[in-house]
Amino acid sequence: MIKDERPAPYDPGPGGAPDAFVERAFSDYARYVNDSMVRLWRFTGFNTLEWTARGATITDIHGQEYLDCGGYGVFVHGHNHPRVVRAVRDQLDRMALSGRTLPHAAPAELGRRLAGVTPGDLQYTFFCNSGAEAVEGSLKLARGFTGRPGFVATEGAFHGKTFGALSVSGRELFRKPFYPLLPEVTHVPYGDVEAMRQAVNETTAAVIVEPIQGENGVIVPPDGYLTALRRICDAAGALLILDEVQTGIGRTGKMFACQYEDAVPDIIAMAKALGGGVMPIGAFSAKPKIFSLFDENPYIHSSTFGGNPLACAAGIAALEVIEEEGLLEQAREKGRYLLEGLRQVQRQYPGVIREVRGRGLLIGLELATEGVTGMMISELMNHHVIIIHSLNNPKVIRVSPPAVITTAQLDAVLAAVGAGAGQAAAVIDELV
Ligand SMILES: Cc1ncc(COP(=O)(O)O)c(C=O)c1O
Repeated sequence: MIKDERPAPYDPGPGGAPDAFVERAFSDYARYVNDSMVRLWRFTGFNTLEWTARGATITDIHGQEYLDCGGYGVFVHGHNHPRVVRAVRDQLDRMALSGRTLPHAAPAELGRRLAGVTPGDLQYTFFCNSGAEAVEGSLKLARGFTGRPGFVATEGAFHGKTFGALSVSGRELFRKPFYPLLPEVTHVPYGDVEAMRQAVNETTAAVIVEPIQGENGVIVPPDGYLTALRRICDAAGALLILDEVQTGIGRTGKMFACQYEDAVPDIIAMAKALGGGVMPIGAFSAKPKIFSLFDENPYIHSSTFGGNPLACAAGIAALEVIEEEGLLEQAREKGRYLLEGLRQVQRQYPGVIREVRGRGLLIGLELATEGVTGMMISELMNHHVIIIHSLNNPKVIRVSPPAVITTAQLDAVLAAVGAGAGQAAAVIDELV
């Protein structure tokens, strides 16, 4: 049994009283990190600092507790899962980072375990540090392997904000200031098989899609979409890259969302929950034939911190916890409960919430207008529930709690969403 060590409470040492400490942090953040982010936090009512976290709960510097249903979708295992923390601590005591000249066992172990849980015959894994890096590497591998220049991606897609990942992403707001992006990228409507068939040809290195578009507002494609893409790619000799950075590692109730369809990509990108909610890590896994690009030159793609022992120790523990605690079943069951509860709220307030959709613990609430989004986020914060909007579709707020959340906590989330929707409905009524 691993001891669940409780975190230290706020110690009013050098910063003085909590309020003074918060003010100083906000002022430093505004001055030295990002001023407009601070204005946004203040506008939304986030006038505090997160301080400690455990499971589904974040405790702020004033000792107030919040249910975390946001977290960019990272916390399938919850915050600071004691088993993952212990694995990282044990590794930290031995050796924090790899010297990179001698081999280290941790990436080998995590690679073997990933080969056991990724779909089909995916076998080799490259480790990096984030989702965008996992996408970058996947795109490079596809180009390097096929020798073709083109990519076909989908409208509204979110694949990260580095140049390659941004080039295949689908929201102009984030793309336009950085033109020109990677050439030879075509975007087609998500979920439209015919449009994809028209766009993929002998110049296409790869098709890249998310099995469910997360940041575009939790868009679940029609049944059979991924299988159809597989066939289109095979017919054209193009590769299929699935970006499971958000959907992967249990978020939707399967280890990878493509396993709902038994669709096997050539390359799969992952990150977020792979670090067990404790360490940042990204990775992409591919079929051996495709990874043969590394045979000629093992340094063809590399990363100083990629596959570092701390991140890999977290990854190994994360996969063990998913299996031993039945987190996939929990995500499926709790997801069903939450989806049904949220649909009840939607039926009560159809003028505020237009639709509730999702799979497992990746659920989107499509609101009536973008204006309602800020109202709902603030109102939920007043009820101590943290939920965020989708980056590519601000009309949709995303509910993505950890799989370790309890039923009582889920009921508290539902009550808060009901109260928030009630408040929003009252404001809308006043305006009309
Ligand atoms: C599907 C998908 N791909 C890639 C990324 C980028 O990941 P990161 O922010 O770790 O670079 C995200 C982030 O939200 C994502 O949802």
